[in-house]
This record gives sequence, structure tokens and C-alpha cells, in this order.
Amino acid sequence: MENEKIEIKQASGRPMLTWVGKRPLRYVTVFPAQRIESFKPANDAEKRIGDLWNDWPSAYPKGGLLFHGDNKEVLAHLLANGFRSKVNLIYIDPPFNTGVDYIRKVTPRGMKIEKLEGDGYSFTEQIQYSNNWHIDAYLQFLYERLQLAREMLAEDGIIFIRMDVHFGYYLKMIADEIFGQDNFQNEIVVNRIKKNVTVKGRRTIPNAVDYLYVYFRSLQAEFKNVLRQLPETKPGYWHNMDSPAIPGPRRLTLGGKTYYPSPGAHLKFPQTQAEEMWNKGLIRENPKTGMLEYWVQDKDYVNLDSDWTDIPGYTFKTGYPTENAEKLLERVVQVGSKRGDLVMDFFVGSGTTAALAQRLGRRWIGCDINKGAIQTTSKRLQTIILEQIAAQKRSSRKGELLPGNEKPTPAQLSFAAYRVNDYDLQLQHDEAINLACAHVGITRTKADSFFNGTLGNSLAKIISFNHPLTLMDLDEVRRELEARPEETRDVTVVALGKETAVDAWLDDWNHLRKKGNLPNKINVIELRTDPKYGKFFEHKPAEARVKIHRTARKIIVDIQDFISPTVIERLQRQATIPVPAIDDWRAMVDSVMIDASYDGVVFEVAHSDVPEKKDTLVSGHYELDYPGTETVVAVKITDVLGEEVIVAQKA
Ligand SMILES: C[S@@+](CC[C@H](N)C(=O)[O-])C[C@H]1O[C@@H](n2cnc3c(N)ncnc32)[C@H](O)[C@@H]1O
Repeated sequence: MENEKIEIKQASGRPMLTWVGKRPLRYVTVFPAQRIESFKPANDAEKRIGDLWNDWPSAYPKGGLLFHGDNKEVLAHLLANGFRSKVNLIYIDPPFNTGVDYIRKVTPRGMKIEKLEGDGYSFTEQIQYSNNWHIDAYLQFLYERLQLAREMLAEDGIIFIRMDVHFGYYLKMIADEIFGQDNFQNEIVVNRIKKNVTVKGRRTIPNAVDYLYVYFRSLQAEFKNVLRQLPETKPGYWHNMDSPAIPGPRRLTLGGKTYYPSPGAHLKFPQTQAEEMWNKGLIRENPKTGMLEYWVQDKDYVNLDSDWTDIPGYTFKTGYPTENAEKLLERVVQVGSKRGDLVMDFFVGSGTTAALAQRLGRRWIGCDINKGAIQTTSKRLQTIILEQIAAQKRSSRKGELLPGNEKPTPAQLSFAAYRVNDYDLQLQHDEAINLACAHVGITRTKADSFFNGTLGNSLAKIISFNHPLTLMDLDEVRRELEARPEETRDVTVVALGKETAVDAWLDDWNHLRKKGNLPNKINVIELRTDPKYGKFFEHKPAEARVKIHRTARKIIVDIQDFISPTVIERLQRQATIPVPAIDDWRAMVDSVMIDASYDGVVFEVAHSDVPEKKDTLVSGHYELDYPGTETVVAVKITDVLGEEVIVAQKA
């Protein structure tokens, strides 16, 4: 009997972290983007911003870009559309293992039913191993995004990744693998909010810090600024003038009085210098001891080190949970980029990174999967840009240039918001083909006049969406294949639906292929019904029942019911495990926003309820101050798939 051979894979030569389901990202599907909002308050915005934009992909307006979508898809979109190697600084603060279900699954709030495609766990095992399961999925989630992030970075780009204590050390290993250990620069400690002291009755030691892992894209990168400003509240201090080390005078006459050091000591300055300082108020008599002391001026700046706990790590200005402190992002942006650089945050949340990039004269791209985040960021950037325009007007009236460091010239005075991967649109035919290709994952081959592209190893043909797949369509495919005797690939036909006669034709065709060992089997994807790609166009809108009324001082909003047929349908479709019934409408709701004086066009968020953790539900009951005159109150409810329902009513 031959000896059994065990194959041992070659070690890669560096330590790597592994987890269940680890797989490098080999390719990603590119999705188109639709513009959903533009903000351009100054007509001459482009004229005022100067000449930073030569390398900007022409398909995009010159301004900030805000993307609503899964960052994996958004990054793929950006890479395919001219932004590869264009980003100078990336800052990300991914959810700490709370948003794992954002990867691809719909999960109602308050329920844990995620499952990795193709894994072997049963439902009970999943519950049993839910912690480990979470970690595996989370690590894969981070791994893929970091690989894409690296592609986005310019050769001299820098990335800052924020992590808490639970995942910091995993992240370090993954990032070492992706960016290279040589490119690791720092593990910076930043403040976090110290939470409660007891968990289930046990005392805990709260974690006081988070970590920023900093990597260069290559050693061509460098930090732009490594100084930090000292707090203005401590400009200097009085110091005793005794000087044991340096020989100096044993007496000084100042202001007509003679002063002596402590026994055995000298005084620090010679007579003439001391007189000068005395005249400037930099030497005085200590009012209590009667001894001389001199003023020590603190330096304004000192060199940064990796302890950044001198500034806050979080704040709560926008009301968005986990909002990072502006002071922190100000430092990150200044350390990691220069004016005009492109700064990106693809977990943008409340938009802190974009806000500081805008304030500090950088260009920016933001992305978030959460509609509430996009709305908060949009609102925040609108305010900043309006302030900047007002400041420019003021300074040009006075005939001054904008002041130097504190208020740099903005790199843009506008932004546009896009949505990636939204299927609920009325589509033009061409757009539909593009979108369907993106949806199914077809790689377009423009050179081929018949097939639209390839799907894996097969040729792909999209049938016009104004009719179902017919025998005539299949005949065309057959003729085309006959004209290409060399072609060995199979064919995937994508259609909205199909005529019944088609099935028999396909069975015959494929049967003959198989029997004769011939190539070119034909497979059909029906966009309306396919379990994987299905329900491409059909859409039943979500509905809400909301009670809005007013008392003498308050507007009271009660959401009584909400139903999203799409969410329910998706859940059933993705159910490889039993789906618990949704008996609380709030499980389907991602966020609630209220505009207390809605003008019917622009939604101004007066109140937002956006729980970040997936097991926290929105409240459903809100009280706002009554503005005093009759007003239209609008309630915008966004479901876990991002679909919005607006209910507006006079109050
Ligand atoms: C910790 S918060 C970021 C906070 C942000 N730095 C700030 O200052 O407000 C993480 C954000 O990542 C978003 N997120 C989670 N998964 C995502 C995904 N796959 N794509 C895009 N954004 C995602 C969440 O919606 C959340 O807003």
C-alpha cells in the first residue's frame, strides 16, 4: 500500500489570524450609484474653490460625496469609477461587532438570526456558539473592507482605524496582514466614555480608552503634522528662582529691594537679565513667601505621542450614537493630510470626519449604510458649508483674505449624496440592463455585440425587460452559438420572467448537450422569482399608522403600526433557519425622524431616534415643543432595508 500523502500548504512567512470562513476578497461586484440629493447653495461655488480638482473623475461633481449603501458595494463602485489610489487619508470607526448583520442579511431589531452562507452550523448550534459565530463574521466583515480600503489609498496615503479593547488585537493582526507590518505606525490611545460600574450585579472596571491603529499605505507616506497644541487654560506658571545646579548670583536687587535665595542655593538669573525680566513682569516676589519667582511660559505646542487622552474621544453634539469628538478628528485630519487632500470615512456615522475635512479645507467622501447617518451627516455638512459661505462673504466685504490656519479656504462649497444598490426605481431600459448586470454580478464585455457580458465562467445575455423570455429569444441565442463553433462556455440568460413553452425547449437543449458531451448549456435567471436574485422589480411599499396631535405646549407623535412587505419577504427568502414571527412593528424599523415644520420639500430633522445597536428598538412615542403656530408635522420612518415612509399632518 502506498503511503498516504498529506498536503501541507506552504506557510506564507508571516503570522496571520484565521477564523471560520476566512477568505480573501478576490473580486467584488460593482454596482451603479444614483444621485439622491445635491446641496449647492452658492452659484459660483466651483469658482471659489480654486484648482484642486484636476484628478477628479469627470462623472462626479466637484464637491463632497456622500454615499448611502453598504461600504463594500460603495468602495467597489468607487474603485471602478476612477477613485482607485486617490484617497490620501482614511479614518474609520467601524461598529464594534454590533452591526455584523449589516453584511448582507436583513435582521429585524431585537432578533438574532444571522447565519453565514454555507456554514455548517444548525440553528441550535448557532445559538450555542453565537459569540464565536459573531466574531468570525465580524472579522470577515472587517477583512474585506480593509482590503478595499487599501486599494483606495494613494501610495502615500494613511489609514486610521478605531477599535475598542475587544477587537483591537484582532484588528492589528488583520491590518498587519493587509497593509504590511512594516507600514504599521502607531497604536494611539483615545478616550472613550466610561460606562457603568456594575454588570448584572458584578462590579467591573470600565474601559477608559479605545485604540487608533495607524498604517501607511507605503513608506512613501509621512505624517503631515506631529505637534499638538497645549490647552490654553495652562499658559504657564510661576517657578521659584532658587537654582541649586547652576552657579548664579547670591543676591539680586530688584525694585529697590534685595532678595536672597534659600540657604545653599543660587539665584537663576544674573542682575541685568533679572532687571529686564522684572520690568516685563516676568519676575515677582511671591506674595506668601516673599521669595523671588519667575514666569515659565509653557510652549504652545509639544510633540505628539501615542497618548491622545488629552482630548475627548466621543461627543454627543448631533445626537447620533457613537459620534466621535471633533477635537479627535481635527487632530487626525491634521496629522494625516494636508489642505486639498482627499479624506474618506466609509463608516461615517454622524459625519464627524467629513465635517472636519470640510472645515480644514480638505476634500471628502463619506459612506454609511444607515439612512439616519446619511441624514445626520448631510444636515451637518449643510450647516458648515452655509457658515463657510457666510464667512467668505464677510471677509470679502472687508477686503481681507480668509484668516490663515484656523479657517482654511474650503476645498468645496457643495456636496452630493448618492445611493448605491437601490432597486426601487422606475428605470429606463438601458439603466435597467446596467442595474441588472450589477445586481446579478455580470461583468460587462462591451466588445461583444450579442452577449452583454460574463457571469463567472458563462456568457451572459440579458433579455429586454419589456417582454418575458420567449422561444424567439432562445432561437437567437442558438443561432449566435452556431456562429461561434469555438465557443465552449455555458450561457446564462437573464430575463424578468419566461413563457411556459420555454422550459421544454431548455430541457431538450440541455439534455442533448449533456448526452452528447457538448458545450453551451443554457441556464436562466428569472429576476422576478429567482430565489437568489429574485424580486428585482416588484415592490410593495411600506406603510405606517401614526397619530399626531398637539397639546398647549407639545406636539405628540405616536407610531401605532408599521409594516414593510419587503422586509418580511426578504426574511422569508433568506430563511435557511426558522424565522421568528415579528410581533412588534419596531423590529422592522431602523430609524424615526421628525420634522416639526415640514415644508413638503426638504426634510429638516428636528428629532431623530436612531438606535445603533441592533437589539435596541426605536421608541415610537415622541414629544416635541409646539412652535406656537399651526404647522405640518412630518414623521419619516425608515425600515431596516432603508425604505422610507413619510406621514405628514397638520398640527
Ligand atoms: C461607530 S459608528 C461611526 C461613528 C462616526 N465615526 C461618527 O463620528 O459619528 C459606525 C457606523 O458604521 C455604519 N455601518 C455599519 N456597517 C456598515 C456598512 N456595511 N457599510 C457602511 N456603513 C456601515 C453604522 O451605520 C454606523 O453609523
